[in-house]
Amino acid sequence: MCGIIGYIGSKNAVPIIVNGLKKLEYRGYDSAGVAVNNNGEFCAVKKRGRLTELEQALKKTPIKGNIGIGHTRWATHGEPSDINSHPHLSEFNTIAVVHNGIIENYKELKAKLEKLGVKFSSQTDSEVVAQLAEYYKTKFGGSLLDIVSRVAQALEGSFALGIMAKDNPNTLIAIKKDNPLIIGVGKDGNFIASDVPAVLEHTKSVYYLADKEIAVIKKDSIEFFTLEKEPINKEVSLIEWDASESEKGGYQHFMLKEMLEQPKILQATIKHAKQRLSQKEVLDKLDIKQYTKIVITACGSAYNAGFVAKYVLEDLARIPVEIELASEFRYKNPIVDDKTLVILISQSGETADTIAAMREAKSKGATTLGVVNVVGSCIATESDVCIYTLAGPEIAVATTKAYSAQLVVMYLLAIKFASDLGVIDEKTIKALENDVNSIPDLVDVTIKSTIDTIAKYSALCIGYSSIFFIGRNIDYAVALEGSLKLKEISYIHSEAYAGGELKHGTISLIEDGTLVVAIASNPRLFPKIMSNVEQVMTRGAKVFSIETSLVNESDRIQHKDLFRIKTHSINELFSPSLSVIILQLFSYFVAANKGLDIDKPRNLAKSVTVE
Ligand code: AGP
Repeated sequence: MCGIIGYIGSKNAVPIIVNGLKKLEYRGYDSAGVAVNNNGEFCAVKKRGRLTELEQALKKTPIKGNIGIGHTRWATHGEPSDINSHPHLSEFNTIAVVHNGIIENYKELKAKLEKLGVKFSSQTDSEVVAQLAEYYKTKFGGSLLDIVSRVAQALEGSFALGIMAKDNPNTLIAIKKDNPLIIGVGKDGNFIASDVPAVLEHTKSVYYLADKEIAVIKKDSIEFFTLEKEPINKEVSLIEWDASESEKGGYQHFMLKEMLEQPKILQATIKHAKQRLSQKEVLDKLDIKQYTKIVITACGSAYNAGFVAKYVLEDLARIPVEIELASEFRYKNPIVDDKTLVILISQSGETADTIAAMREAKSKGATTLGVVNVVGSCIATESDVCIYTLAGPEIAVATTKAYSAQLVVMYLLAIKFASDLGVIDEKTIKALENDVNSIPDLVDVTIKSTIDTIAKYSALCIGYSSIFFIGRNIDYAVALEGSLKLKEISYIHSEAYAGGELKHGTISLIEDGTLVVAIASNPRLFPKIMSNVEQVMTRGAKVFSIETSLVNESDRIQHKDLFRIKTHSINELFSPSLSVIILQLFSYFVAANKGLDIDKPRNLAKSVTVE
């Protein structure tokens, strides 16, 4: 949700910022801009539309300077337009600001400043930061640190800010609250950025800014202060990601590259999660005997991964598991206490609703476990214990590899809890662990053996205006993810239903030629879901059926309107790891055949850091 980058050093900031914005475009892409301070003068170029528009504008109006800030926007307040694009400059061009988040009291602040005669030029909440800084600068004077400290204390809401002053070309200031910001330590200068990939080609040494910390960044020094300007010491962290991991590497889309990376990242995640689950600190916090229930809360695909986990945890560990959308959980006065383990699942670790849910759970005494991909992110650092998914940088807005990595962490957690509670014997534990260990290879085989067939079949599916996904039990949880994936990148309306629920209303939507995707990975429930398939086919539906190989051929439906893909044999509890691969590939190829912008679907952003 908006990407910020800033640079101060001995090089021209503009190409560094534009390249950084390319790495951050997944955070928002309805407008972009850059501002530099060139010998005491601000020069800014801002454009509505994709980054290429900004690049064109910069060709026509080249700017340069050794300090600059840039922004790629996902609009919240004020339509996407040149004027509403960031950076925002104050009325007399003395302050320039980029902002990610929402200033909740902006109307009040704006009204006060307007009464004092300040003239605003945009409809954004963000401009108020630049105007307030200029007002305080004129009224109270002081250093840029003094001004930013004063401004930040007046702001309510969430913000990650990069701030420059016209009369101070040697200082770049960064501050954050509830939105991510990192500080990169380079050889020829220093950086600020919303996310690691933006600075990876320059440095792997970063500071993670905590809430209400201010960084005063110069060409060759970085100092940190509290909001009250008390100096603080921070430790630099070394990023393990490689710069090439956030490059497309010859693939047409990041989504395709990320889907194909799944066998490798699953292997790394399984290894890491096993290590983590044997560490004393983790064992103490996750001693399942202390808890009477588990609550999993997350958003979007991470919620869908949690939904799968509910089935696996309950089946194996026989402990009650509730699954809640984080945006609902945070406002419902949830029943959690010190006997509840609350699991937050998040790729970014920065999703505003999931962060709020975590804080709500903690305030009620629950222990929180974060299953997070981005190192140093808010949920990773604030949860009581964190297990990382080692999916590496995920750039495509539609998650694939991070979702798959979340699944395997949750499987291992379920096996661990079942073992600790003594509800399964040693032999079963070993067998389950072997099943999980086999997932990376089975995912590899699934991709290789189905990709061409799915590509061909998907080309026939681009004309559907609505597609239904059905499954029972754990397959229903996977259906939710298949449906979300399809609609977010192909713009085809779709719904996921529990197979048995169709006849309670939804079946009235099935008509001649409707496509129903059926997931049938559980041999025990196979006849049940096939009976749902018969029901929709009788009403004219065409069916794409993803079936376990563990049933007799005679039990399968043979019909010209049914297209079948069989999945490899796997323990039914872990079958989501294979069926989701087929669903991801299906969505990808439908969208690709429609010629859509797969990595940056309309209206979406990768990290939803606002409510
Ligand atoms: C998935 O394809 C989506 N882009 C989205 O639903 C995402 O999973 C959700 O916003 C949660 O994000 P998080 O994992 O970073 O918390």
